[in-house]
Amino acid sequence: MSSTVIDDKPVTPCLLLDVDRMTRNIQTLEARLKDLGTPLRPHVKTCKSIEIARRMMASDSPGITVSTLAEAEYFFGHGIDDQLYAVGIAPGKLDRIARLYRNGLALKLTLDNSDAAGRLGEAAARLDCAFSVLLEIDADGQRGGFRPDDPALLEAAGLVTDAGCGVLGVMTHMGASYDCRDARCLERAAERERDAVVSAADRLRTAGFEAPVVSVGSTPTATFVRNLEGVTEVRAGTHVFMDLFMAGLGVCTTDDIAISVLTEIIGYRGNAGEWLVDAGWMALSRDRGTASQTVDCGYGLVCQESGEVIEDIFVRATSQEHGILARRDGEPITPDRFQVGQRLRILPNHACATAAQHAGYWLVGEDLAGGRFWPRMHGW
Ligand SMILES: Cc1ncc(COP(=O)(O)O)c(C=O)c1O
Repeated sequence: MSSTVIDDKPVTPCLLLDVDRMTRNIQTLEARLKDLGTPLRPHVKTCKSIEIARRMMASDSPGITVSTLAEAEYFFGHGIDDQLYAVGIAPGKLDRIARLYRNGLALKLTLDNSDAAGRLGEAAARLDCAFSVLLEIDADGQRGGFRPDDPALLEAAGLVTDAGCGVLGVMTHMGASYDCRDARCLERAAERERDAVVSAADRLRTAGFEAPVVSVGSTPTATFVRNLEGVTEVRAGTHVFMDLFMAGLGVCTTDDIAISVLTEIIGYRGNAGEWLVDAGWMALSRDRGTASQTVDCGYGLVCQESGEVIEDIFVRATSQEHGILARRDGEPITPDRFQVGQRLRILPNHACATAAQHAGYWLVGEDLAGGRFWPRMHGW
């Protein structure tokens, strides 16, 4: 990464990782799940980094969760051989997955409809590969999956076992938790998430399928859940960095957000009372998730280079390589407030989306174990 460093300073815009905050976030969720007696299967789609994934895995973690086959291959290459691919399977990927099986990674797959179960069965016969499958349960009506009482759930389980493949159990992801406005809503979302998979697992077991795995998870539900009876693992990924969207939900505070984009001031737009920085949407992402929340953070919240939040200023707008800083109250920012060449940090709306714009993490903080730059993997 030498081209991104000049005089030992990373070239802006670049992604900073506060290792101390990250460590605290990991430990907070780990302690919470330990109290509830259920292990974490961390989702590594947020970090896409072996250095970070290893830190996210607790001593009792069964393995990791991935969202792409490129992640599965990368993390397997780094020795992690228990992985759940938590996206409904597209039949066109099964040849590549069978290759992973032959090489020693029995990737756990997610199946969310009966048609896909039929296609999986055909591929299992053609490729002579006994895939292991979790059936996805739709807990909130927002994405794929079988409703817990759907007759198609048992039909799909039958198609899987008839093809010589294994039904490991059930999984769900409560996307509706991201729409909550208060703690009570988040607690209820976590309850509904648990109820949906536990009742689906009961149906499968009553019908004669073993279904040992009952998997739930998102950062909001993992943070607010009170009872995990019947659940065998929890998945969460965003908790490792947190972000403004999670802060808006009440899952964390801005002091917990471990990644930020380092940027440099380009100039002052005197007519508008706004400052320009060199972080546009290519560095921050186009994610505007906080627009639907009580506090709209624009494209990110502005901090001093030291990390201290500048409460009244946010990134109002972006173009590809420009960010426009404005005051929240619409008043002009005065020309003496900043200076050209000054460095600032921007906290992201959505950690996964912002991190995805960068080749890796520049480490900041007290605990700088293992070098200054950690690369990320990319692609599908
Ligand atoms: C299937 C699945 N599991 C777990 C997660 C992790 O949730 P979070 O990003 O809130 O930690 C996600 C996130 O999208 C997901 O899709």
